[in-house]
Formats: sequence, structure tokens, C-alpha cells
Amino acid sequence: MIATMHVPFVDLRAQHAPISGDLDRAIRDVVARGDFILGAAVERFEAEYAAFIGTRHAIGVGTGLSALELALRAFGVGAGDEVITAANTFIATVLAITAVGARPVLVDMDPATYTIDPDALAAAINSRTRAIIPVHLYGQPVDLDAVLAVARRHGLVVIEDAAQAHGARYKERRAGSFGHAAAFSFYPSKNLGAFGDGGMITTDDDLAAGKLRLLHNYGQRAKYHHAIAGTNSRLDTLQAAVLRVKLPHLDGWNAARRRHADAYTARLAHRVQTPTSLAGIEHVYHLYVIETAQRDAVQQRLRERQIDTLIHYPVPAHLQEVSAPLGYKAGDFPATEAAAARILSLPMYAELTEAQIDYVVDALADAPR
Ligand SMILES: Cc1ncc(COP(=O)(O)O)c(C=O)c1O
Repeated sequence: MIATMHVPFVDLRAQHAPISGDLDRAIRDVVARGDFILGAAVERFEAEYAAFIGTRHAIGVGTGLSALELALRAFGVGAGDEVITAANTFIATVLAITAVGARPVLVDMDPATYTIDPDALAAAINSRTRAIIPVHLYGQPVDLDAVLAVARRHGLVVIEDAAQAHGARYKERRAGSFGHAAAFSFYPSKNLGAFGDGGMITTDDDLAAGKLRLLHNYGQRAKYHHAIAGTNSRLDTLQAAVLRVKLPHLDGWNAARRRHADAYTARLAHRVQTPTSLAGIEHVYHLYVIETAQRDAVQQRLRERQIDTLIHYPVPAHLQEVSAPLGYKAGDFPATEAAAARILSLPMYAELTEAQIDYVVDALADAPR
């Protein structure tokens, strides 16, 4: 009998311990300055994040959902428009589309990569289609050459959902630098996570950036002078200060995630379906997702061994209760639906130890197949 060991799904305390002095100083500095709303750390972090992603602009916002919604609004997407995205995404992608008054049109994924199927995308385009939101799901950039070619052919706006792909690369450039704009989430467990909610929009478009600066701050051009019907969605100064401390570590953390993913894959590929990472793509493994026919039994066995796992996502977007008005039904997206019944996300974070990986691999070797 092997001794049990708890393997959490993510371990933020392990991430924060080695940088706790820097984090404490950054927070104390904001408290001392008192510039809690749109303070100095926000401006600095926006400049640093834009440089990191490789875009002219980065605009901090309150959440990843808000980043998607405001990016659509900045490019004039709204009522009467259709926006295409993948059925296998977190619901925020779909809710952002409905929030601007547009209609979400969902399509199936490529079963090899879990990202939008470019042929299905092309087939869903009609005269009402205004935009597409490719989702770099699990940390793997979509087939951007194919998606951008379709978008160019039809004159569509492309908003990348990069909420799970901070730092990922597609042919040398970072995800988030390809579309008209991209949306990031700094939800605490993301590859780059805040101490609460936060989000960012990156773009090269000067006009859109100007509009986003109005949109996220009450449409305010000068204090108490409101040009457009904006909203309140600002990245907190405290969160920006935390994120400034973390950003220089991100590439190292992502490299560690890739090493852990390679270790899992080398030892699990003969038992379960392991993730595929395409040539020319730098996957950042926000999630390490396996597939197995006995998913529920495997998850139960791992739970008994104190290994935490999750399913991303058990119910595809088109079959969610909230999507009923869109009129989709079971069977519409076979690849997405087949995966939803088989996928399982294993513990994945930079600080995962070799002993923990061994323990997870051993537990899977014992699991039903
Ligand atoms: C793919 C995807 N899109 C959008 C979001 C929304 O981000 P947030 O939770 O910060 O609103 C998330 C994360 O939660 C996500 O995983």
C-alpha cells in the first residue's frame, strides 16, 4: 500500500511563497500611495503587458468576461450581428456575445487540439456574421493561420479569447497579438493570476484602444465629462501591483508546466489519450487534459487517492441551460460532445513536484481502463 499524498489541482501558496517579500512590498506600496483606482501600478502593468504580448496597447479591465465584452463593443459588434465561437469553451465566451446584443453561433472543435475547427468555422459564416472569437483553450493557440485566412476572406473582426493562454506562442509570436484584439483573464488560478478578479485587452488598433479607455471608465474623457455610455470595469491598482511582480516569472512558470506536461505524457500515453501539441506552437498547459472512456471511474479512483481533478467542461456551451434560446440540441457538435464525456484535467501548476507527478501516474496505472 502506497502512502497517500494530497495533490491539489493548483497550489497558489506554493507559487507565492518564493515571491512573498516582493508581493508584500508591492501591496504595501499601493496602500502607502493610496491610488487604488487607475493608479500608477495599472499604467505600468499595462505597458509591461503590452510589451510582453507584443501589442501597441493593453487596457486593464475588471474581468476576462468584461475584456471580451468590451473588445466586441470597441469594434462595433452588437445587435443584429452574429459572432462565431467554439461550443467547447467556458461559458464566458458565449455570455460576452449575448451581453453586447449579438447572437452566438457555435461550431465544433478539432478533436486533436480542442480548438475551433477552421472548416466548421468557415461553414458557419453568412451575411450577418461580424466577428469570430477563437479560444486558445487549455493554453494551446488555435490554428491562427487558418482562422485568420477565413476572417480576412470575409472581412470579420477577430477577438482572441486568450484567457487560458498567457505567454503561449504561435510561430514565435504570443497569443493575444494576432486578432483585432484579445481578451485575458487574471482569475487567480490562471497561468498569470491576480489576488482576485482582473482582465486585460490587448490590441494594435489605436482607435479601438482609445474607445476602450472610455468604455471601461464610464465613458469619461475628463473627470465628470462623459462622452459615451461606458461601464465601470477597471483593473484594480492592487491587482496590477501583484501582477507586475508575477509577470517576470511567467515564462519560467510556463516552461515548468511544459516539462510537467511532457513528463505526464511520456508516462501516460500508453494508457490514456494525452494532449497533442502541434509543431510551431508553444502550448502553456493552463490545463493538462487527458481522455479516457472510464472517465468518471478514473476520477473517483484519483479522488480516493486524494488527487484533485476537474472537468473542463462537463456540459458544452450549446447544451447549457442558459443556451436554450439558441436552439441547439444534443448531437449538434459530435466532437465536443464526445470529448465532454471523456475529458479529465489532471493537477497542473509550475510548482508540481516530481514525487507528485509520480504519485498521479501510479494512481492512473491502477485506475479502471
Ligand atoms: C476561455 C475563458 N474565457 C473567458 C474567461 C473569463 O474570465 P473571467 O473569469 O476573468 O471573467 C475564462 C476564465 O474564467 C476562460 O477560461
